Amino acid sequence: MVRLHMTKPTLCKASQEKSISAMQYWCRLVCVSTAVSLLALCVTAVDKGNFKTCDKSSFCRRNRALPKGDSPYKVDPDSIEVQSTGCAMDIINTRSNVVLRGEISTLEGNMFRLKIDEKDGLRLRYQVEGALVGRPKLEGCKVQRSSTGLEVTSETTKVAVTFDPFQMDFYVNNEIAVVLNSRGLMNFEHYRNKKEPPVQEEEVPEAEGDAPGDEEANEEVAEEEPEAEAVNVEDEEPEMWEETFKTYPDSKPYGPSSVGLDISFPGVEHVYGLPEHADSLALKTTNDGDPYRLYNLDVFEYELNNRMALYGSIPLMLAHNWSKTVGVFWHNAAETWVDITNSAANKNILGKLLSYFQTEEEIPQTDTHWISESGIIDLFIILGPRPHDVFRQYSSLTGTTMLPPLFSIAYHQSRWNYNDENDVANVDEGFDAHDIPYDVLWLDIEHTNGKRYFTWDSAKFPTPEAMQDKLAAKGRKMVTIIDPHIKRDSNYHIHKEAESSDVYVKKSDGGSSYEGWCWPGSSSWIDFLSPQNRRWWAEQFSPDKYQGSTLNLFTWNDMNEPSVFNGPEVTMHKDCRHGDWEHRDVHNIYGMLQHQATAEGQILRSGGTERPFVLSRAFFAGTQRFGAIWTGDNKADWGHLKMSLPMLLSVSVAGLPFVGADVGGFFMNPDPELLVRWYQAGAFYPFFRAHAHLDTRRREPWLLESDKMTVIRDAIRIRYELLPLWYTVFYESTQTGLPVMRPLWLEYPRDKNTYGIEDQFLVGDSLMVRPVTEQYTTSVHLYLPGATAVWYDYSDYTPYNGATKYYINTPLDKIPVFVKGGAIVPKKMRVRRSSSLMADDPYTLLVALNTEEKAKGKLYIDDGHSYNYQKGEYLVRQFAFSNNQLTSSSGDPAGSYVTKSWLERVLVVGVAKAPSSVTIQTGGTTNNLQFSYDDVNKNHVLTIKKPGLNIATDFTISLNYS
Ligand code: GLC
Repeated sequence: MVRLHMTKPTLCKASQEKSISAMQYWCRLVCVSTAVSLLALCVTAVDKGNFKTCDKSSFCRRNRALPKGDSPYKVDPDSIEVQSTGCAMDIINTRSNVVLRGEISTLEGNMFRLKIDEKDGLRLRYQVEGALVGRPKLEGCKVQRSSTGLEVTSETTKVAVTFDPFQMDFYVNNEIAVVLNSRGLMNFEHYRNKKEPPVQEEEVPEAEGDAPGDEEANEEVAEEEPEAEAVNVEDEEPEMWEETFKTYPDSKPYGPSSVGLDISFPGVEHVYGLPEHADSLALKTTNDGDPYRLYNLDVFEYELNNRMALYGSIPLMLAHNWSKTVGVFWHNAAETWVDITNSAANKNILGKLLSYFQTEEEIPQTDTHWISESGIIDLFIILGPRPHDVFRQYSSLTGTTMLPPLFSIAYHQSRWNYNDENDVANVDEGFDAHDIPYDVLWLDIEHTNGKRYFTWDSAKFPTPEAMQDKLAAKGRKMVTIIDPHIKRDSNYHIHKEAESSDVYVKKSDGGSSYEGWCWPGSSSWIDFLSPQNRRWWAEQFSPDKYQGSTLNLFTWNDMNEPSVFNGPEVTMHKDCRHGDWEHRDVHNIYGMLQHQATAEGQILRSGGTERPFVLSRAFFAGTQRFGAIWTGDNKADWGHLKMSLPMLLSVSVAGLPFVGADVGGFFMNPDPELLVRWYQAGAFYPFFRAHAHLDTRRREPWLLESDKMTVIRDAIRIRYELLPLWYTVFYESTQTGLPVMRPLWLEYPRDKNTYGIEDQFLVGDSLMVRPVTEQYTTSVHLYLPGATAVWYDYSDYTPYNGATKYYINTPLDKIPVFVKGGAIVPKKMRVRRSSSLMADDPYTLLVALNTEEKAKGKLYIDDGHSYNYQKGEYLVRQFAFSNNQLTSSSGDPAGSYVTKSWLERVLVVGVAKAPSSVTIQTGGTTNNLQFSYDDVNKNHVLTIKKPGLNIATDFTISLNYS
């Protein structure tokens, strides 16, 4: 609290002088705890006026107003250049005569790439660097021409190009799946010279003060005038060359530069992805309001069911129907808006009535319109055709998730703030005293010396290394926050070095460092665009530079949208400079580049041997390669708990699997029921962290009444029990690009009942979770998919048939979790204080039989923290059950990791009757095993005790019936 009072006047002053957004941050600091009246004043909802609507953004407005069906773009047939992997062509705007160059490439794995740029533009346009994992692999193709168009055919797919107007139709299995520019909304605002208003002769003063250079420049423009005229035939519209939002001017020195394109998905009603929005998983039609906006922003008190931009952006959309799944990746890092409409939503009442009498089923279609402020059109068309294919294809472009260190998928305890070393020690001991496992304790901004990152408040944290060592002795870690804004204090070593190394983002003049306000007061921002600057940043994590850090200290990158309290929309001015580029060009990738540099710093400090863990708030396509993200400042209310599921699923299906939401809610105080239910949901988030605002009441689990605390403990213990499954699913994600947390349709793509489900999800493909997200609820509805499937309640193995809706009882201690019949789930049942203390513990295999009495599963093991797995030091075990036999064999490739863990128990669920004996066979010897059979409640569980073999051993366990 003391620190709070020190900070308040500075920020408050700033807020009065500078902006309303800083005022909100003042509120963010003080409102929750102080008084009820203040609370009512501050904690209401987002102030929408601080953020642009499409109408307030001139490029969005211009593009949205384009007439449909009137495309001026056509291909010049004489310009076509056929290549072995695609073709290039001039695309002419027949109204302005501006020539664009389009390039279509065939990519390996059923994908195409379309790039459209200006042919002879006045200046280069920004092309995103850093999202792609490498150069996409090209594939050979055949190009066939006719007088009206051409076809590019690869082994698996084809695209047809129509010349006039320009249109592209992409095929899946001979059906058109993706269509570009069929609504004629393609638009490419080329760079141009500004048309100066006509100059009155008599008003021109003698060029007294003009620099000679200026005269030359004027002459040049005069000479080039006829050409300039040729490209300037479009009408000038207001705000093309400068615009002001609230009091923030945007100088737009290069004028209008937007790109837009319509993309349609015939036959599709459901589209997904495009995070981050606090909205449904299946994307909604935008007819009734603004498009979905992608522009990384720090939105105070964000509102639910809203398409406003939030902290991260991934311009990937998946389109799914019964017969196929396809995707489009709009590779552009500038502010982007996406309109969505589908045929069903377009119908008026009469249309709906008429279609009622139609005998033939109408074919739906989803139409989308993508608009970005700058950059080029660089579109990847990902043609599936199954959901799993799309994830493999997209991750071949932007990478799969990094393999997280094991501790980072366990439970994290955070709040703003754990105050001092004593507080840290007490919280740490509290977990042990109450027998609750946890792996990581987090320190927020108050641990620093006055918000100077990479430093410690030495009064409160006098011995940071010893503090970390104490945690490490129990296998635990610590995380500190390191934001991208650097306090402008000439005595602060990071600032001094940043200035002398010239690593700050520059003002619009390109000369001096950009300055703005954030937590420390006046700050500048590291320019992560430059690889040298990223290297400089990475070096700051070496233990000799980051005093007080140890190898057990990991990092949290917050406020990296970037959040600038006194900037337009609480972010950086768009005309700031990153070398040759404007901030406008790169805004959405900025945060990811900090995330990357931090992760690289952690790798560097260990000499390349240890895996990093970094949490980031901002994200972009490719973030999955660097670590985890969370959904920012949510609120302790039921709506936010419920919304966390579609939000996390949307990020997951956009290729970023390591995701979580603040458990308990960041703002406000959760009541005990909400906190319990949030832990039960959070135990199944891929990233599982409790976090809370500075002024919320303390909420460590043991501060609740003991019955509630026990339920929270059980939820956290289930997470630890299932860590072998979580780790295996993450490992699989590194191989396949599949999400860890999956919507149902991804595994049951032909079951239409699943397309709209967003309150249930799968962990991998074997667990189904339906967290309780409604208050005072003692039963919930859920749907278990799979026509011939059987599912078992995780807690008591009660069987349920698939393809059925249920209404099940959910008392407060119940988490509705089901194991898929047909899955084998690896677990560890001896839960200890932290995950690393469980490293050598024995395994239990939960074998859940399907209706054919079969099951299969996998287990991945390595040391949990280093990169040795990349040298083959890992183990993959394959388990299969059929014909009353469970076999364990090594995966391919097998890996060479040596584990001490053995197999303690096998539970086979769904065994129709008790066997007469159970034997285990390994390396030529056969032994009897003890077992028990329980058919209470008809749950048919066979427990096989102590097979006793090292888990790396090949074996066969037989259920014998004589
Ligand atoms: C931002 C973060 C929040 C953090 C706070 C102080 O609001 O989203 O998690 O606690 O800043 O650093």
